[in-house]
Amino acid sequence: MRSRAWITAAAVAGLFASFGAEAADLSRCASCHNPIASEHAGSAHKGVACTTCHTGLDEHLKSAKTRPTVNMDPAKCGMCHANQYASLYKTSDRPARQSKKAASGPAPDPFFDRALGGHGFTKEHDLPRAHTWMAIDQFLVDRAFGGRFEPKDGWLYTTLPGGKHYKVWDVLKDTHPESNEHKPFKPGTAAAGNGVCWSCKSADLMLDWAYMGDKAEGAKFSRASNAVDSVRAVNHALNCNFCHDPHNAKPRVIRDGLIDALTRKNDVSAYDLAARKTKLDVRDVGVRGFDRKIAYLEKPDANLMCAQCHVEYICNPGVDAKTGKPIGMDSRLTNHFPFVNADQIEAYYEKIGYRDFKHSMTGALLIKMQHPDAETFFGSKHDKAGATCQTCHMPKVKDEKTGKTYTLHWSTSPRHYMQETCLTCHKDKTAEQMNAAIDAMHGYYDGKVRETESRMNDMFNAFENAIAAGVDSKTLDEARRLHASAHVNWEYWTAVNGAWFHNPDMAVRSLAKAAKAAQDAAALLQKACAEKNAAR
Ligand code: HEC
Ligand code: HEC
Ligand code: HEC
Ligand code: HEC
Ligand code: HEC
Ligand code: HEC
Ligand code: HEC
Repeated sequence: MRSRAWITAAAVAGLFASFGAEAADLSRCASCHNPIASEHAGSAHKGVACTTCHTGLDEHLKSAKTRPTVNMDPAKCGMCHANQYASLYKTSDRPARQSKKAASGPAPDPFFDRALGGHGFTKEHDLPRAHTWMAIDQFLVDRAFGGRFEPKDGWLYTTLPGGKHYKVWDVLKDTHPESNEHKPFKPGTAAAGNGVCWSCKSADLMLDWAYMGDKAEGAKFSRASNAVDSVRAVNHALNCNFCHDPHNAKPRVIRDGLIDALTRKNDVSAYDLAARKTKLDVRDVGVRGFDRKIAYLEKPDANLMCAQCHVEYICNPGVDAKTGKPIGMDSRLTNHFPFVNADQIEAYYEKIGYRDFKHSMTGALLIKMQHPDAETFFGSKHDKAGATCQTCHMPKVKDEKTGKTYTLHWSTSPRHYMQETCLTCHKDKTAEQMNAAIDAMHGYYDGKVRETESRMNDMFNAFENAIAAGVDSKTLDEARRLHASAHVNWEYWTAVNGAWFHNPDMAVRSLAKAAKAAQDAAALLQKACAEKNAAR
């Protein structure tokens, strides 16, 4: 394989000769595709011809409406950037489908199911693993597509080696190709995917998706699209073009929810606390008459690149907090990044008036958290110390053969590369010492989450008794409000990744808030119950 460092102008010219199959007149592209063509001509990619990534150009030049192909395969970039490609898809030691609900997991059962009362996440909830698998894992998980998709090789799919990208449909099959009905096919599963889901894993559909997933003429997909139709058209996960522009090779972000969060007027934002802020150059692009946006970054900034996915987002229909009426996929709120942290989140959801679901037992309207990793990191000790996600999860390393330095794209636990990460600042420590520090922080954090769950269990017991005793609705409503506060300040910490290390102070603060709200709810309900029973 070829390393980036070996690429010379001559080698690139040679590569182009081998693409000679299509000899479209590339001088004509600029007449209709500026600024793409002029940016390309002035960039690191100037020697990489349009034909490297686009075919069908002869037909396109004859009739502009005939769309040429757009190669979204990371392996295409990997042809010239072998180290970045192979490392991005390296896998870690965590096996597939390890449940967060296992006894040793971050959200053990039976408490998790009790607290999630009726929510779809009670149907398989797994620990994250390597980026290589993100689309495959999502298509298989029991809560997303009702068991419709299966690995072609059964459980042997878990033995595939990393170091390369897998096309989803080389690994999986659709067991119901005849229908696109989005429903459970296997017992114990749910069909909760929707048109927004793909945009967090794959860039494949980006050219057919208007800004924010609004319905637009010429855009094949939208928030309201059938989830099965959408994912049948997805084949690649974490394409390189999430973070790098293919034309001018500049750093960028493409996830519309993030661009919206960074450009709207915010009363409050976790990003305000970030020690490092990067200027955005947001451009309207798109060649078919509807808007798309790309945000170029003044300089590479992994905090924002990773925040395309490692954030809390709303990506499903919900409920209006005041009226209890449904909020459907026609609302932009179903593709929304709050971009706030645990200290800010309750007030934020209050303001936008959105809730994800109603708890089946208590009747409280609750928020289902995703993974607010970036929001939690901003303002932390290590953020202030000048570290970004890249410092600890994407270190610069040497290619052993050529001796050239490149950015390792393998985002995993820093335990795998302590020397190049933690120890560059903590020069007086060893890897063993730093692992022990991470273990200590993780153990302490888990304890705080379990304590909070214990308080919440007391609250749920009190709810059951109060409902059985027929406690009045005013008291129940007040307790539901407290439950909602306890819920978000607890579930945040089971959904987030790495927070034991990223920001333990915020975790302790927020979990204490959850425990207090749960205790207050329990006390209120117990008192009302006692009064009710005394009056009998
Ligand atoms: C006469 C104007 C014109 C010229 C010349 C032209 N294009 Fe286009 N191109 C268009 C239009 C219009 C579209 C939108 C087509 C549609 O309706 O989907 C488009 C779309 C595209 C797309 C997007 C395809 C997609 O799936 O969204 C690519 C890629 C592209 N052109 C590449 C090229 C390249 C490379 C050249 C030079 C070989 C070129 N074009 C020359 C007008 C032009
Ligand atoms: C290294 C691969 C690569 C090269 C080289 C390349 N493209 Fe693209 N092109 C892409 C990808 C990937 C997309 C999808 C959109 C994105 O990632 O921004 C795309 C999208 C486009 C679009 C659609 C843009 C839109 O916003 O709808 C046009 C037009 C286009 N390319 C033209 C060109 C022209 C003209 C050249 C040569 C000057 C070229 N491309 C060279 C990979 C490439
Ligand atoms: C045909 C070879 C080739 C292909 C294919 C290719 N690149 Fe490049 N790329 C280059 C060359 C040559 C350079 C500039 C040389 C250098 O910086 O060492 C470069 C530079 C870059 C840079 C660094 C830019 C900078 O300013 O430092 C990035 C990022 C990049 N490419 C990303 C991509 C992505 C993403 C794709 C796929 C969409 C891709 N490349 C496809 C050859 C290629
Ligand atoms: C989640 C964001 C992200 C994705 C996805 C991503 N990269 Fe990068 N890439 C980065 C960051 C961050 C850097 C480091 C930038 C810096 O320090 O200047 C980088 C640097 C690079 C560079 C410059 C040389 C180097 O190693 O520092 C190349 C080339 C590159 N990436 C290619 C790729 C290719 C090819 C893919 C897909 C296989 C890819 N990247 C996917 C974030 C990403
Ligand atoms: C396009 C969305 C996306 C982007 C961008 C992204 N991630 Fe991820 N990341 C995921 C998903 C989804 C998973 C879980 C994959 C699975 O379990 O199959 C994951 C998993 C991880 C893991 C766990 C890996 C392991 O070995 O267990 C780490 C660490 C991580 N991401 C860090 C990062 C960092 C750092 C960045 C920015 C450089 C980043 N991610 C960018 C979506 C993304
Ligand atoms: C100062 C170093 C540092 C920085 C900066 C940092 N992390 Fe981490 N991250 C860690 C450590 C340490 C862990 C815990 C690893 C462990 O327990 O094995 C972790 C864990 C994670 C995990 C969970 C991995 C898993 O398998 O459970 C994800 C995802 C993650 N980080 C993403 C990010 C993102 C996104 C950013 C930027 C917003 C970021 N990290 C910034 C050090 C860092
Ligand atoms: C960019 C430099 C830098 C990197 C990289 C870095 N640290 Fe730190 N770390 C610091 C600084 C500075 C402090 C002191 C911050 C303070 O007290 O406000 C610190 C504090 C800590 C603390 C004490 C935190 C607390 O809340 O008491 C631990 C533990 C720690 N680092 C572990 C690690 C580990 C493990 C890694 C790698 C995953 C790492 N650090 C990477 C600079 C760094």
